[in-house]
Amino acid sequence: MPTSNVSSAASASGAAAFTAFTAATLRPAERPTFYFIGVTTGSSSIQRVFPAWAAELGLDARMQGIDLPIHAPDDQYRRVVEFIRDDPGSLGALVTTHKIDLYRAARDLFDERDFFAELTGETSCISKRAGGLVAHAKDPISSGLALDAFIPAGYWSSHPGATAVAMGAGGSTVAMSWYLTQPGRGDDRPAEFVVTNRSQPRLDSLRRIHGRLGADTPFRYEHCPRPELNDALVSSQPAGSLIVNATGLGKDAPGSPITDAAVFPRGGFAWDLNYRGELVFLDQAKAQAAAAGLTVEDGWVYFLHGWTQVIAEVFQIEIPTAGPQFDRLSELARAAR
Ligand SMILES: NC(=O)c1ccc[n+]([C@@H]2O[C@H](COP(=O)([O-])OP(=O)(O)OC[C@H]3O[C@@H](n4cnc5c(N)ncnc54)[C@H](OP(=O)(O)O)[C@@H]3O)[C@@H](O)[C@H]2O)c1
Repeated sequence: MPTSNVSSAASASGAAAFTAFTAATLRPAERPTFYFIGVTTGSSSIQRVFPAWAAELGLDARMQGIDLPIHAPDDQYRRVVEFIRDDPGSLGALVTTHKIDLYRAARDLFDERDFFAELTGETSCISKRAGGLVAHAKDPISSGLALDAFIPAGYWSSHPGATAVAMGAGGSTVAMSWYLTQPGRGDDRPAEFVVTNRSQPRLDSLRRIHGRLGADTPFRYEHCPRPELNDALVSSQPAGSLIVNATGLGKDAPGSPITDAAVFPRGGFAWDLNYRGELVFLDQAKAQAAAAGLTVEDGWVYFLHGWTQVIAEVFQIEIPTAGPQFDRLSELARAAR
């Protein structure tokens, strides 16, 4: 049994790698521990970022990765959740990739599940309150904060024809479509929310989720298995519209959901949810930015909100969502990456 859960080893490239647990190698925490549940957590830059943030935020805790294979067997998800629930030194976790599978396999192990976890059928945040285990889905909050960082309040009211187009019908699109179409926003909402996807099932599932939302924004679901179909859709949007690459193309797989022939809406916004990788979509948008008056954003601020919202929940602290302390966390993360 290791005396320390984290061992750091220099890889051939000189980058540090961190030893992750698996469902079979979980060990009780000797110090307060915050987990990161993913697929290849040992090579993630958050392993270097978290200690810098912990020092800045005054948290006495370490981070430990837990690697599970994509679509792992249910018993692995259950073992991990039971371990965090039962181990006093284990404070909680951020979940990537396995958000849907983990929640489906272990939903009954949580004492509380927030509204978004139940709505979206996933959890990105495991925390403890008064001895009970809590599942939160934080994406609707973090994607909303990220959108607010580049789309000013009142924007949609003053651009009444502008629409939002999300290419990719995954969890991020569930989150941002909820955020932008909430009835409580009044007329500060896109005229239409269009979602495209390369295969049909996720579009059907999104339609079901939207049906439960009670939002009266018109939704449109387009099956676009080829980039040319996305091109046609992007090019036909009114001035001022928002175009989002939520496919992961450029990071999770090479390429872009559109070709160079797509024309971005004049005066609109282009948002790539990723911030690292060969972000072809971002380059395509930048190439039109000056002539079309387009605002182009990557996923860095989204990344910061995604982590800080979970850390705030697990450690029961306030982390500002903008301003000097948020900027300081951004600087520390950039330096540690
Ligand atoms: N910056 C951040 O912190 C942050 C936060 C959240 C997410 N992200 C990134 O955002 C991306 C999306 O995240 P997610 O959680 O929504 O992912 P997800 O649940 O895996 O969904 C991705 C969706 O994109 C679709 N897709 C993939 N390739 C496509 C293509 N060529 N054309 C059209 N659609 C395509 C997939 O279609 P199928 O249904 O056919 O598989 C799937 O529905 C990921 O790369 C993720 O890393 C970044």
